Amino acid sequence: MEEFSTITETRNYLSEFLANGKSIGFVPTMGALHAGHLSLISRSKSENDLTVCSIFVNPTQFNNKEDLQNYPRTMARDAVVLREAGCDLLFAPSATEMYPEGESAGLALDFGKLDKVMEGKFRPGHFSGVATIVDKLLAIVKPTRAYFGKKDFQQLTIIRHMVKTLDIPVEIVASEIVREPDGLAMSSRNMRLTIAERNIAPKIYQVLAKLKEKSGKVPVPELREWAMKKIREVPEFRLDYLEIGDNESLQPVSNWSHKSRAMAFIAVFLGDVRLIDNIELFL
Ligand code: PAF
Repeated sequence: MEEFSTITETRNYLSEFLANGKSIGFVPTMGALHAGHLSLISRSKSENDLTVCSIFVNPTQFNNKEDLQNYPRTMARDAVVLREAGCDLLFAPSATEMYPEGESAGLALDFGKLDKVMEGKFRPGHFSGVATIVDKLLAIVKPTRAYFGKKDFQQLTIIRHMVKTLDIPVEIVASEIVREPDGLAMSSRNMRLTIAERNIAPKIYQVLAKLKEKSGKVPVPELREWAMKKIREVPEFRLDYLEIGDNESLQPVSNWSHKSRAMAFIAVFLGDVRLIDNIELFL
């Protein structure tokens, strides 16, 4: 596996593959890799001639300094894991490499209502940071396909919107959420949970799974209240939001009239670790 930290090296290396018409699969990450990331690498490998992974803890998408400082960084282990998974190139730039003009130079895209709810509402500026870095990374790697997990469903929707708006020639591929055997959605942040918190965390998915079972049988507002109550019954949880929303517009729904598009989304603090998850209610 090639390992580069500069844009020039990465571009130079990939230009030969692009000139020869090879397909490039790209998995952008912030490191602290887990089985969810590896499922994206594996899918990219099966669908492309070459697989590129980036590791960059992007400062502009953190609205909270402590969260940025505490974000897990396991670069040496990540490189080993990627090599074993058969990744062809790891691009791991520094912040000055990605933001030579400083971190305030970001994309000001209009996402309409997509970033006014959920993560966008609770983490101001987050999606502008995500869009800025993903746009830069796509311009460097020029992939045929880029892979994103559905756990960050709002991020996925916003990236699709950006790629369409800016006419970026890439296919965005969405992969299913990978869960631990007890249902907890895999996330780099899980490694920051204490043992006691890790034992409580699966309750998030248990509530989502029950909510799915009850979907269509109970009015939406009642079901949402029920699920919020279940989360609040666990004293260690601090709920940011629990929404039942539309999988295209991401806006909250008040009835089951477009039920095939209904999803539930949740963000909850456990200690100082913020966990998100979601579930498709009728698929
Ligand atoms: O999902 C992530 O890990 C990040 O938001 C991404 C897409 C790599 C951008 O920094």
